[in-house]
Amino acid sequence: MTKLIKYLLAFTLFNSAFAHSADVHSPDSIKGTVLITGANRGLGFALSQHFIADGYKVIGTARKPEKAHELKALGAKVVQLDVTDDVSIEQMALTLKDTPIDIVVNNAGYIANLDRGFESFKNTSRRDFLLTYNVNAVGPFMVTRALLPNLMLSTSKVKKVVNISSHGGIVNRPKVNGIYSYDPTKTALNKITIDMSKDLQQFNIAVVALAPGHNKTDMGGENAKLEPEFSMGKAKEVIKGLSMQDTGTFVGYSGFSIKW
Ligand SMILES: NC(=O)c1ccc[n+]([C@@H]2O[C@H](COP(=O)([O-])OP(=O)(O)OC[C@H]3O[C@@H](n4cnc5c(N)ncnc54)[C@H](OP(=O)(O)O)[C@@H]3O)[C@@H](O)[C@H]2O)c1
Repeated sequence: MTKLIKYLLAFTLFNSAFAHSADVHSPDSIKGTVLITGANRGLGFALSQHFIADGYKVIGTARKPEKAHELKALGAKVVQLDVTDDVSIEQMALTLKDTPIDIVVNNAGYIANLDRGFESFKNTSRRDFLLTYNVNAVGPFMVTRALLPNLMLSTSKVKKVVNISSHGGIVNRPKVNGIYSYDPTKTALNKITIDMSKDLQQFNIAVVALAPGHNKTDMGGENAKLEPEFSMGKAKEVIKGLSMQDTGTFVGYSGFSIKW
């Protein structure tokens, strides 16, 4: 191959790669819009990164948008949301009025502490129970209901609601002691997932519960097995591949099926 042909080949490849990357960021080529709650850190942030890198528009919610510098730097649109506050939910819906949303990921979550078994039995307070239930179970329900008009504006064949659950929500995990104020909130979220899947099927909205695995985040702690960048990369692919046949199911971050 002559030097000139090599140069022309390299020039063509460079131009087509550049055209492709420019295309990915032009509004016409956006693959879809994903709203992710609690996107300012942890798993929500990692999932936002993956969806943006794949060419999706991400609307990331944060309780304190003014502090969500990294999320903004990713290119996400940041919207204020406290999932326990009805006024905040209403305001979010108003801000996003007439915005089609293809995928809602209810990721925001809370855990009072990581005590298990008898330690958890001794130390769990009423406040721990009620606050955790409010964030982890009531929050996703209220947020999904507020965003139903946005999901219905989506032109995607299948619209998706993904509730970030946990293996902790499995009713009976042999040999694993529970976290009293946390685990039942995910069991409740799973039940809410099943009920919403029945009610939203008529709109072609698939609703699933997804367990992200034990991850190194503020919630999961440093001893967790998984890196959020890894598990959320897998989860993004699973979410993309969901069809109406999957509605009402409980899946792991890489797509494995989980028994309630
Ligand atoms: N990490 C794990 O090992 C693991 C395992 C199983 C399931 N999960 C689930 O995965 C999801 C994400 O967990 P994570 O590990 O990324 O947790 P994280 O690092 O503690 O982050 C939690 C996120 O939720 C937001 N949040 C908390 N309370 C909120 C509220 N009232 N309204 C709105 N946002 C609120 C936080 O916002 P602020 O920054 O404002 O606090 C933050 O963005 C949760 O649903 C969790 O239960 C995690």
